[in-house]
Amino acid sequence: MNNLRVKTGVDKLDHILKGGLPRGSVVLLAGGPGTGKTILSARFLYSGIVDYNEAGMYVSFTETREAFKNYMLNFGWNFDALEKKGLFTFLDFFSTSEEGVDHVIKTILEPISIRNIKRLVIDSVTALSISLGERYKVRNIVYLLKQLLKNTDCTSILVAEVPFGYPMMGVGVEEFVVDGVILLELQREGYEFKRRLAVLKMRGTEHDLRYFRFDIQHTVGLKIMPILAE
Ligand SMILES: Nc1ncnc2c1ncn2[C@@H]1O[C@H](COP(=O)(O)OP(=O)(O)OP(=O)(O)O)[C@@H](O)[C@H]1O
Ligand SMILES: [Mg+2]
Repeated sequence: MNNLRVKTGVDKLDHILKGGLPRGSVVLLAGGPGTGKTILSARFLYSGIVDYNEAGMYVSFTETREAFKNYMLNFGWNFDALEKKGLFTFLDFFSTSEEGVDHVIKTILEPISIRNIKRLVIDSVTALSISLGERYKVRNIVYLLKQLLKNTDCTSILVAEVPFGYPMMGVGVEEFVVDGVILLELQREGYEFKRRLAVLKMRGTEHDLRYFRFDIQHTVGLKIMPILAE
């Protein structure tokens, strides 16, 4: 791991990470349903392209290209325009889920070198694991991807779905294999739920270990509060 940093596009998160994600790292973004995993991942790709001229790829096992593009227009992120310029690649495995692991891996790795992709999101490794059937548990997939991505210059976010009400992650050994873990949670406080985020691990950098409260706002995306929740 080197000292070069990749800005996530969320200023406060880069601050929590003391500069951003270490370049080339493979980071698990874990959270329950509706916690903001897709919006944060999309922001990372969008900012990479428009602010840093780094080509990005979103690999989806949960929604179609059109659904994703329309969803992100809510935040002012026009992925369609970026795709037309060749800077954004969307791989749809949602509509074609019958493929084996070799095909999936090959289809993901090829564009990384051909299109010089610097930022990758796989949404999600949980859905990928389900689509491959019994033999490939999330931990196998994460281990395989980590091995394959370690020699690329690509910084990767692997989205992991944590079942609702789960105390923490505890999804397996994948937390140990990856370079970093970012956790998104909806925490019940009285009669409402509040959003919070924590960086649990990030190899190669100092980082804040505290929980930070955040909101998801129309036309903005993630807004992390300057004041600590606890
Ligand atoms: N336009 C919007 N304005 C404000 N908040 C929004 C908007 N769109 C979505 N949200 C909030 O963001 C949440 C979904 O965020 P996101 O799609 O990133 O979640 P996720 O963690 O990927 O969920 P899943 O596991 O279901 O894929 C919604 O449940 C809603 O609370
Ligand atoms: Mg999602």
